Amino acid sequence: MDRLKVLQELIDQNGYQKYLEIGVHKGFVFLELKCPKKVAIDPKFQIDFHYKLKKLFKRPYNFRNKYFEMTSDKFFIEHKKFIKAFGAFDLVFVDGLHTFEGSLKDVLNSLNYLHEDGCVVVHDCFPPRKAAATPANSYQEVNLLKPDGWNGLWCGDVWKTIVYLKKLYKDELEVLVLDTDFGLGIIKPKNGPVKDLEINQEVFLQINDLDYDYLLTNPNEIIGLRNKNYLFTQSGINL
Ligand SMILES: C[S@@+](CC[C@H](N)C(=O)[O-])C[C@H]1O[C@@H](n2cnc3c(N)ncnc32)[C@H](O)[C@@H]1O
Repeated sequence: MDRLKVLQELIDQNGYQKYLEIGVHKGFVFLELKCPKKVAIDPKFQIDFHYKLKKLFKRPYNFRNKYFEMTSDKFFIEHKKFIKAFGAFDLVFVDGLHTFEGSLKDVLNSLNYLHEDGCVVVHDCFPPRKAAATPANSYQEVNLLKPDGWNGLWCGDVWKTIVYLKKLYKDELEVLVLDTDFGLGIIKPKNGPVKDLEINQEVFLQINDLDYDYLLTNPNEIIGLRNKNYLFTQSGINL
């Protein structure tokens, strides 16, 4: 089950209407997903014109899509009015800047505008090898570094966002990672909205020091790694 399937299952099973994707790239997930209202953010969209045209006619609700060509930080600061008018997001897919800080900010900002029954999915939470987990500020940076075992696949240290949320908000948030597609983090408020969370610098720095070898000591415990079908076979979590 890859990210497209998981996202579509979440939309279909919960009747979600409003979707936000942070980091859209070529739009292979964004344009494919069947959801009535979708918002895309990316500082540099790389959606092929003909592909977009094909998807517009195959899935006509793509005509309603809104595109913001900018970083997610800028979107959340400059487009509060738009977000308010659009209404709470049911589902947010975080797949933008692959750093601990970037992904954490994306999740905390998303929680501010998440519907109470909504959920945030984070890509790349369980890198398949050490090179893919190399902390860096961009793909270009790690591609120049070429760490041992580098094959072009980069997840960064997004997994630390899961560690951070599990550590600080275990009463407020359900946090787990599905073992598929390089780890799909699932974050869902347990008892109503969780808003206005500030980054705790001390905890951030502690977690920032962790490394990939530590993650591999016990991923089930450290990031809540679960079987890829967990959401759809368990009744314990209402997703
Ligand atoms: C891995 S790609 C996204 C793939 C897409 N979600 C998919 O599943 O097909 C990551 C994207 O994040 C974008 N990105 C990088 N920094 C970002 C930021 N600060 N805010 C939003 N998007 C960002 C990049 O331009 C790139 O297109």
